[in-house]
Amino acid sequence: MMRRFYFDRAIDRRGTNALALEGYAEYLFGNKPPPSVPNELLPMWVADMQFAAPPAVIDAMQARLAHPIFGYTGHFDDTLFHAFNRWCETRYGWSVVREHLQLSLGVIPALYTIVDLVCQPGDKVVTLSPAYGYFSKAANRNGVKLVTSRLSMDDWYPRIDFDDFAAKVRDPRVRLFFLCHPHNPTGCAWSADELIKLADLCHDNDVLIVSDEVHCDLLRQGGVHQPLSKLRPNDTNIVTCMAPSKTFNLAGLMTAMVLIPDERLRRAWRDSHYPFVNPLGLAAAVGAYDNGGPWLDELRDYLDANLVALDELLRTNLPLARFRIPDATYLAWIDLSAYFPEGCNLTQFFLARCGVVLEGGDMFIENGQGAIRLNVACPQNQLIAAASRIIEGVRRRD
Ligand SMILES: Cc1ncc(COP(=O)(O)O)c(C=O)c1O
Repeated sequence: MMRRFYFDRAIDRRGTNALALEGYAEYLFGNKPPPSVPNELLPMWVADMQFAAPPAVIDAMQARLAHPIFGYTGHFDDTLFHAFNRWCETRYGWSVVREHLQLSLGVIPALYTIVDLVCQPGDKVVTLSPAYGYFSKAANRNGVKLVTSRLSMDDWYPRIDFDDFAAKVRDPRVRLFFLCHPHNPTGCAWSADELIKLADLCHDNDVLIVSDEVHCDLLRQGGVHQPLSKLRPNDTNIVTCMAPSKTFNLAGLMTAMVLIPDERLRRAWRDSHYPFVNPLGLAAAVGAYDNGGPWLDELRDYLDANLVALDELLRTNLPLARFRIPDATYLAWIDLSAYFPEGCNLTQFFLARCGVVLEGGDMFIENGQGAIRLNVACPQNQLIAAASRIIEGVRRRD
């Protein structure tokens, strides 16, 4: 098949204030000095891509730039709703209700708001661990606490311990469940059975689910995302978060969709959440959902090929590493515990020894020791260079 988009191009992000390249030290090492780096840095960590945004997005932003006023902007004309709803109907067979749709300057700010609206001091939020680090930042505030139910990774595929999860949600102080679907960092797309079991347990215990589906468009080719709310159409106890940010590499444009079916919660949200959006972000999101489909389909092929290449390199060179090509996401979750002593800081190790910026498993709240998360959304030769450095680093670890 003829390719229309070119993902092999290396794009230098220096000088753009990119978190991936220029902000890693503070994010990963806090106020400790980061190690010095032996060679040119390969950023393989934060979940954005080293690829140009789709032409459909850039065209839409250029059209918006032709109008010279960038004042306060809302979603008054419903264009994003129509574009997003068409996307959801075509891609997941699921329709969005206009009145449920709220916009947010990202999924993360939405998580903060929902915790504030739902929890009192002493309340708890539950999630499955390992988990995306911001879940803990959003939950552990104002006397609220994050609790976890650990995924078992025996065959390096995450399994939910439903007895443990049931015990957690039975605690009357647990008010919220942060579900990550597909799951960061393991890349697992939960099955309909698993989703329904989780939703039943939350429903029976009056626990609100925030279904963070920000990675929902990045399933392996042929996979189809199942929004939790599609499986539970009448459940007002589910807030769904989606965004064009991961799908089309637009995280800096700060536009996310939050679907809140419960009327009281929606009213409370409207009373407290900052309601305006970035006009370029809005234009970009509409352009992406209206015309970005063909780009995404080719991107998915490219990511699939990158993951196959990584899998082969690991199998051949690090036979004790555990890795499964994830169902979704461009994040590879790799167990290296056979090669390193417990407690080894793998973020530090791979940066200092190899110049590869990646996230060690301990960045994912808990239950990730000994693993690394490698972002493969980059030109394949960058991925191969990073994997080769990682392999070499493991071989010479002593
Ligand atoms: C599970 C999950 N939720 C949310 C986000 C960030 O969303 P946003 O950029 O829309 O705030 C990320 C980014 O990595 C993520 O992995």
